[in-house]
Amino acid sequence: MTKTSRNNLQLAIDGPAGAGKSTVAQMVAHELGMFYLDTGAMYRVISYKVLKNRVLPEDELAVTKIAQETEIAFDHSNRDIVLCDGEIVSNQIRTPEVSRTVSIVAAYAGVREQLVKSQRLEAAKGNVVMDGRDIGTFVLPDADIKIFLTASTEERATRRLQEIKATGIDTTYQEVLKDMKNRDRSDSEREHSPLRPAEDSIIIDTTQLSIEEVVKKIVSLVLNTRNAK
Ligand code: CDP
Repeated sequence: MTKTSRNNLQLAIDGPAGAGKSTVAQMVAHELGMFYLDTGAMYRVISYKVLKNRVLPEDELAVTKIAQETEIAFDHSNRDIVLCDGEIVSNQIRTPEVSRTVSIVAAYAGVREQLVKSQRLEAAKGNVVMDGRDIGTFVLPDADIKIFLTASTEERATRRLQEIKATGIDTTYQEVLKDMKNRDRSDSEREHSPLRPAEDSIIIDTTQLSIEEVVKKIVSLVLNTRNAK
């Protein structure tokens, strides 16, 4: 459906790990009364289930079957709650082990096809903020506004280290940096829907910006677009 033939507003936020996508997307959605869909959490749920069922992440057929059979849900009354087949997995999907596996499973065409189908169905339900890697380029190519959030690799690793430490997991800056670089490489170099800014996206480098500054910038872009629509 094109921009003009639908009456809901779609905001796509893409970018590499640790650029601030999900924090910013949640705050923008809250401020503007839009709903938020964290597509990364969906790939993480598949990665979590692959590990739980002791399936080899390299086994594309078995992983794709899991993606087809898994029910992923979000509790919209509490946006931090993610469910996998009815079980709350909000914390389990954020472990370093899941983070290391997720880019392998997210590279499979069959997995992406399955998740993108539900993402598009969700996006048709109302005014939506969706964040991920391929939202502006593939999932919602006609989104009203496309943002590509980025920051220096070192800054992103520092932010991610703080987040991981806050959950009580012990890790080091070097380890986080290495995992992040590996994930960035595999997300950017994969064949299906690689991470890259959409041609019509607005690129925001958040290295020197606070969360509040980024949110303010995006909210004003959305308001201008909404008024013009
Ligand atoms: O929060 P963080 O940036 O670390 O990652 P995420 O948004 O939770 O996404 C986890 C992983 O899922 C990414 O590294 C990608 O491999 C994959 N992903 C994807 O391929 N396409 C999306 N639309 C969202 C995430």
